[in-house]
Parts: sequence; C-alpha cells; structure tokens
Amino acid sequence: MKGVILAGGTGTRLHPLTRITNKHLLPIYDRPMIAYSIEALVLAGISEIMLVTGGTHAGEFLRLLGNGHEHDIDRLSYAYQDKAGGIAEALGLAERFAADEAVLVMLADNIVERTFRPTVEQFAVQGGGARIVLTEEHDPVHLRHLGVPEFDDSDRITKILEKPDEPPSHYAVTGIYCYDPDVFQVIGNLEPSGRGELEITDVNNYYVDQGTMAFDILDGFWGDAGESIDAYYAVNDFVRANGANKG
Ligand code: DAU
Repeated sequence: MKGVILAGGTGTRLHPLTRITNKHLLPIYDRPMIAYSIEALVLAGISEIMLVTGGTHAGEFLRLLGNGHEHDIDRLSYAYQDKAGGIAEALGLAERFAADEAVLVMLADNIVERTFRPTVEQFAVQGGGARIVLTEEHDPVHLRHLGVPEFDDSDRITKILEKPDEPPSHYAVTGIYCYDPDVFQVIGNLEPSGRGELEITDVNNYYVDQGTMAFDILDGFWGDAGESIDAYYAVNDFVRANGANKG
C-alpha cells in the first residue's frame, strides 16, 4: 500500500499566518505540522509516500524533507497542485505514483494521538473498496465544520454529509482514508461542488453507495489544526502536553 499526504490548499482559515507560508509548515509544538503526518504513515507501516502540495512555498517542503530518508521513508515523491481544486483533485495527482496499488491518504493538517495502523491492516484483508477513520464528536458546532456520517439501524454508513447544518450523528470523518485503485476512476468522474472543488466526501459516498465502505473509530485524540486559529492552538496544546503518534 502506498501513502499520499495532501498538503496543498490555501489555508485561508489561518490567515494571516498562512500569507507568509504554507499551513503545513507552521509549527505544532516542536516540529513543522507536516512532520506529524509523515511520522503517522511510517508508523502505520507505509514507506513509499507522495506529498502533494501547491502555492508559492512548495519548494520549502523539499528543503525540509529532502528524500525522506531521515524519516525512514524509502521513497518520497512530490506532486504540485496548480490551484486549490479540492482534496479529491489533489489525490488525483497521485494516480501514476499509485500505479494500481491501494492508497492510504492523510490530510496533512490532521494530528492523531495514536497510530491508525490497525485500519491499514484491516484494509489489507478487506478485499478492495474503501475504509475511513471516524472520531467521536459531541459538539454540534464542531461537527458543522466536518464530514459527518449518517448510520442505519445496523450501524452501517448510509451517507456522509459535508459540513451539515444538522449533524446526523456524533461522529466526524477524519482526514485518513484507505482506497482501492478504482479511486482514481471515481475522481475522474466527479463534478465540482458548489464551492468549485472536487470533494473527498463525494468520493466516499461513491463507495458508500457501492456498499464497499468500511470504517474504524479512532482511539485517542484527533485534531484538525487547519480548522481555525483556536483549533490550531488546541492541537498545539494537546501535542505539547501529551505527544502524538503513539504506537
Ligand atoms: O479534517 C477532516 C475534514 O477534512 C473532514 O471531516 C472533511 O470531510 C473534509 O472535507 C476535510 O474538510 P476541511 O474543510 O478540513 O478541508 P480543507 O479544505 O481544510 O483541506 C484539508 C487538507 O487537504 C489541507 O490541509 C490540505 C489538503 N488540500 C485541500 C484542498 C482544498 C489540498 O491538498 N488541496 C486542496 O485543493
């Protein structure tokens, strides 16, 4: 399984901090944000990774991460996203890199306390489809900024709603996704959403409709450091006090 880390986008919710750099180069406690997703993938057993980024600071990732050997990555590749056309568009740039293998995708502003290695292992025996990682979240205000799954009576996901006004459950979809190689065909058939982006939630709903979407519920803290300045500092405080990416 190959890994894809998405670190493009405009980071407008962290302005003005992100006027002078890419969001994923900002510090989380003692390291640049991007270091945490790299470490999370390596801990999950993935050693071939593509980093997708864009904008005017893309070159700084190369300077920071180089060939990735310092982080125990066998092969670190890079892709450049011309404009922030959405998470699914960014993932589409990894098609040739994936070369018909399954992919583990992580949004580079997501920070986890504990490894999601069990999800990667479960996906390997799942036999295709997709697998996402959920986190329990009871604050409706927070859920309105995230993807939220709706469940049927047998606890199967029936639909994922992106930033719903009325969240249908107490779970949020984190930015950690496993896909079979069909995902690139799914992305190729997507239409841009109302905000002009190719949405990862539309990709996930494709797999939900096919009946091939599985999920796990993450153990421990999860944070999206790009959600707001307050979220950025909350993630910093958590990592400083408790650490991240524990085995
Ligand atoms: O963090 C989890 C949430 O991430 C999910 O609950 C949502 O379902 C999912 O849509 C996403 O929502 P966000 O509003 O947080 O997505 P955002 O636009 O902030 O993008 C997240 C990351 O994806 C960002 O750190 C960089 C990458 N990205 C984003 C865009 C729009 C790209 O690489 N390219 C892009 O064009």
